[in-house]
Amino acid sequence: MDFELKTLTRARVCTEKCDALVVLVPLDVAEGDDTLTVLVEAATQSGDFERKPGKLLQAYRTTGIAATRVILVGVGEGSAKNVRTAVIAAMGALKGGNAQRVVLCLSLLKDAGAAQMQAAVVACGDAAYSYSATKSKVQPAKLQRAVVAVASAAEAKAGFEKAVGLVKGIALAKEWGNRPANHATPVMLAGAARELAKLPRIKAEILGPKEVAKLGMGSFMAVARGSEEPLRFIVLRYDGGLKAEAPVVLVGKGITFDTGGISIKPASEMDEMKFDMCGAASVLGAFRALGELQPKLNVIGLIPSCENMPDGKAIKPGDVVTSMSGQTIEILNTDAEGRLVLCDALTYAERFKPRAVVDIATLTGACVVALGAVRSGLFSSDDALAQSLLKAGENSLDLCWRMPLDDDYADGLKSNFADVANVAGRAGGAVTAAKFLQRFSSKFPWAHLDIAGTAWKGGAAKGSTGRPVALLVEYLLAHAGHAAQVAQSPVSALLVKEKKGDAAVKKAPAKSAFKASPKTRVKAVRP
Ligand code: BES
Ligand code: MN
Ligand code: ZN
Repeated sequence: MDFELKTLTRARVCTEKCDALVVLVPLDVAEGDDTLTVLVEAATQSGDFERKPGKLLQAYRTTGIAATRVILVGVGEGSAKNVRTAVIAAMGALKGGNAQRVVLCLSLLKDAGAAQMQAAVVACGDAAYSYSATKSKVQPAKLQRAVVAVASAAEAKAGFEKAVGLVKGIALAKEWGNRPANHATPVMLAGAARELAKLPRIKAEILGPKEVAKLGMGSFMAVARGSEEPLRFIVLRYDGGLKAEAPVVLVGKGITFDTGGISIKPASEMDEMKFDMCGAASVLGAFRALGELQPKLNVIGLIPSCENMPDGKAIKPGDVVTSMSGQTIEILNTDAEGRLVLCDALTYAERFKPRAVVDIATLTGACVVALGAVRSGLFSSDDALAQSLLKAGENSLDLCWRMPLDDDYADGLKSNFADVANVAGRAGGAVTAAKFLQRFSSKFPWAHLDIAGTAWKGGAAKGSTGRPVALLVEYLLAHAGHAAQVAQSPVSALLVKEKKGDAAVKKAPAKSAFKASPKTRVKAVRP
C-alpha cells in the first residue's frame, strides 16, 4: 500500500475525491460550518453515531462531500490506542468492498502527535497486508493507496515517515512468518537477508555448516543435525552511526520448523510451528525499517536458523554437547531447541562489544500461558535496558511485560552430566528458559523477549502479527539520537579525536562481523 501525507483542513477534505473518506471523530470536535462538521454534529445528535472508540457510521454519496463513501469513526478522547481501534474498525468495514483509494482524515483530532499518526498508519498497513506467496490465484489487493489528511503536514511529516518505514518492516516480518516451512527454509531466510543488503548501509554475511563448525557452535549444530535442510547463521549489519560506536545486537530465533525433534510434539496444531522463526522475521523486519529510515546508529542482526527434526542423526534426550562458550549442555528435551541455537548466537554477539543485546524468540509455551497474546515476556538483567524496552513497547502499542530472573529459578537447570541442562521441569517454564540464556549473556547488557504468545494468531485469523517489529524499531530510534552522545563519552571522544588526527584509531576499531579474529576466521557462503 502506498501512503501519502496531505494538509487537508476539514473544509478542504470534503472536496477531496476518493473511494472512501475515513473520518476519525474525537469526543471533542471544534465548532465549524463546513459540511463535514455539520454531518458529524447531526449524526451525533440524532443518536445514530457515537464517538466511542471504533463506533462507525457509514454514508454513501453524501451531498457536499466528494468521496464516494464516508465512514465516521469514533476515537473517544483521541489516544493512540483508540486511533488504532478506530482505524481497524474502519478498514474492516471497507474489506471486501471496491475502495482502492482511501483518505484517512486525522484533521479533527486536536493534539494528534506522532503516536496517533503511527497508530493510524500502522493499523492501515496491517489491514492492507495480504498473504499470497503460495496461492495459485493471486487477487490483487484492492486497497492500494491511503492519503493521510492532517491539519498541518509539515508538523506531521517526521511521524508519518517513521510510520511508513515501520509498516514496511512489519509487512516483511509478517510475510516471512507466514510462509510455510518448505517456502521459508534457512537458505531462503538467508536469501531474504541478502535482499535487505541491497538497501543503503545494510550488509549481510551468511555462514553455513562448515563456518559454524569452525566457530565451535556445538549447541546450534546439535539442533540442526536431524534435518536435511542445511543450517544458516545470518549476520546483518546496519552501519548508520560512527565507526567506533558500539552497536545494538538483535538476535532472532530462526527455527523454520519445530517438530520438537525426538521429544516430538503432538500432531494437533503442529503446523503452527512454521511460525517458530518469527523472532528471526522480526529482526529482518527491523532491518527493513532501518534501511528505510536511515537513523544514526549501528545495529547488528544475528539469526541462527535451522529446522528441528527427528531423524537417525538427530540429537537424543540425554546427549551432551559443547556450546561455543565452552559450557557443556545436557539436552534433556530436544523440544527446548530455541535456547540451544540462541546461546551460541549470544556468544557470537560478544565480538561486537555491544551496547546492548536483545534476543527475540518464540521460546516457550509457558509464556503463552503466563501472558497470553497481549504482552510479550521481557526478561533482563539490566534495569535501564528493561525500562527502555518497556517504554518502547508502550509508545509503539507493541506491549511487553517484565518477568523475574531470580537465581533460584535456575536451580532446576542443574545437571549431573554437564555444566547445565536445557530444561528445568514444567513450573515457571518461561523464566527457566530465560535463566538458561542468561548464562550466555554475562558480557553485555542483555534482554530477552519471549514472543511465543504475540508473534502469531491461531484459529480463523491464523497468521503472523509482525510483532515485535514496532517495539524494536521504537527502541532503536529512541537511541539513535543518543548515538551522538555516546561518541562524546571520554573513550569514544578520544577515538574520534584521534581519528581526526589520523593514526591511533586504526588500532581500536569496533570489531566487524567481516573482520573475525584469525582463530575464528570464516568464509561466507551463498544462501
Ligand atoms: N517453539 C516452542 C515454543 C512454543 C510452543 C511457542 C507453543 C508457541 C507455542 C519451543 O521450542 C518449545 O517447544 N518449547 C517447549 C519447552 C519445553 C520442552 C521445556 C515448550 O514450551 O513446551
Ligand atoms: Mn521446541
Ligand atoms: Zn521452538
